[in-house]
Order: sequence, then C-alpha cells, then structure tokens
Amino acid sequence: MEPNEEVNPRPAPFSFLHVLFASLIILLSGELLYHNFPQLRLLLWGEPTASETSLKANATRPHIVFILLDDLGWNDVSFHGYDEMRTVNIDRLAAEGVILNSFYAQYVCSPSRAALMTGKYPIRHELHHGVIQVRHRLGLDPSVKILPQLLRELGYDTHAVGKWHLGHFQTRYLPTNRGFDTFFGFYGPGIEHHNHTTGDTFDALDLWDNDRPARNYQGQHITKVLTEVAVKHISNHDPTKPMFLYFSHANLFQDVVGQSPPVDQEYYDRFPNIKHEGRRKHAG
Ligand SMILES: *[C@@H]1O[C@H](CO)[C@@H](O)[C@H](O)[C@H]1NC(C)=O
Ligand SMILES: *[C@@H]1O[C@H](CO)[C@@H](O)[C@H](O)[C@H]1NC(C)=O
Repeated sequence: MEPNEEVNPRPAPFSFLHVLFASLIILLSGELLYHNFPQLRLLLWGEPTASETSLKANATRPHIVFILLDDLGWNDVSFHGYDEMRTVNIDRLAAEGVILNSFYAQYVCSPSRAALMTGKYPIRHELHHGVIQVRHRLGLDPSVKILPQLLRELGYDTHAVGKWHLGHFQTRYLPTNRGFDTFFGFYGPGIEHHNHTTGDTFDALDLWDNDRPARNYQGQHITKVLTEVAVKHISNHDPTKPMFLYFSHANLFQDVVGQSPPVDQEYYDRFPNIKHEGRRKHAG
C-alpha cells in the first residue's frame, strides 16, 4: 500500500477474546523487508536454486530484530489514527519502514508462532487447534527445521527473548534446542507480570534464563525485565556478526493470573484522559 493511501478503518479487535497479533520487523541495517525476500524465501522454504546458492555464499546478512506483540489491536497505534495515546516509537518505525495493512496472522498465540517459525500453515504441524497450555504434552514438531536453525546455518547469532509458547514438555522442544543460542523468557501462554508465575492450574514460576529458573527478578514488571535483556543483546553484540533477535513481549497479552492487563502505577498515571478503566490500564 502506498503511504498516501487511506487506511481502511476496521472494527477494533478487542470485541474478540483472543485476537490480534501484530508484528514488526526491523531490519537494523536499514534494508527493507522486500529487498531481502529472496533470502527469506531461501531461509524458510528450503532447497536453494543455483542463483540462491550464490546469494547464500555472499549476500549481505542484515541484523534482524523481530518484535512480536500479542493482542496489539489495529487501533492501538497512533499511526492508525488512535489519539488517546501516542505510540511515538512504533509510529517512527512505521514511517521509516513498510506497513503491511493487509497482513493476516493466525488467531491465537501458538499457531501464529508455528507459522512464523516454519513458514507453513500450522495445520501442517497439528498446531492449528489452539493454544499450548502449560500442562499440555504438545509442541512444534522437533524434526521440522525452523527459522533460527536456518539463520544459524547462515552464520547468525540467534537469541530469543520473551514468550516461547511452542512446547516445553520435553527438553527437545525448548528454544535452546530449536536453534537459539540463548533464551530468556517464559514457555507458556503468559505469566503473572510481577511474580512471573503461570496461573495455569498450578502456581509455578515460568521465567527462564537459558532453561534455568530465573528467580532474581521477583517483583519487577516483566516488560522491563525482557526489554533490558533485549537491549543488552543489542549493545553487547559484535556488529560484524549478523544477529537474529526474536523478541516476543509478554504485553499486551493479559496477565494470566489477574485477567486484566496489569500496569505499574507510573504508567497508569500517564493516561488520566482515558475514561475507560480497562483501556487506561491497557494503554499503561
Ligand atoms: C556471489 O558469489 C558468486 C559465486 O561465487 C559470484 O559470481 C558473485 O559475483 C558474488 N556476488 C557478490 C555480490 O559478491
Ligand atoms: C503471584 O501473584 C498472584 C496475584 O497476581 C497470586 O495470585 C499468586 O499466588 C502469586 N504467586 C506467587 C508464587 O507468589
């Protein structure tokens, strides 16, 4: 879509319980997504042609920071016209990047992620039914090669920060066994935002630092914790090596325990203009 074309207003997706997931791809090198399409095709869909083989051998490999936000609605960003809060940084990325206004995703967390990681419809991996709960013996088929594994083969350092949600009932399903050099985050659908417990039939910690329990962050809001880890990856990274950082926030997904988006007071206080209580917490 051309930048000047009018954006079709759509109904806010919050009338559904689990709905929208939106993603932003920021290619830090400044290259745009479509310039890299042959490379992505190579990464996701297998056997390279002869010309792609030469691409593999010597193409520029941009750093990739993929930020995934569950449940960010169409009308939750000010570049779509929402005016009760300004999403300044997201708007800037949009202005300097490519906006995919006809972008479709799967309707809930695990199928979305399976599609992203494999480049295939989730029905191919039997993950189309819904969400992997903490107690489920279910996950993305470990025999399927996924995005971070393919990027690693191209020389990328690979880091995952935040929500995994592609299975954790055996260690071979864990992100560190699926192509990520490091993982910091949670395995299940969501966690209580301050004590980082699952809230799913049992009250257990679900925050992991390379697959060891991360107990030192008690009381800190999960958004801050994850952001600090992601920023550290970027600042400490050797820029001569390409990096893939998959950053999947806990927000805006509801707090699984509190059943509403929990928010630190300082952020809640920034939006006295928003009358609707849930909306105000959401903005915070
Ligand atoms: C890439 O590699 C191929 C084959 O090795 C070579 O012909 C081509 O010139 C290279 N391209 C660049 C941009 O270096
Ligand atoms: C975590 O916080 C929730 C309230 O938000 C509470 O119900 C739960 O018991 C707490 N769990 C632990 C282990 O502190």
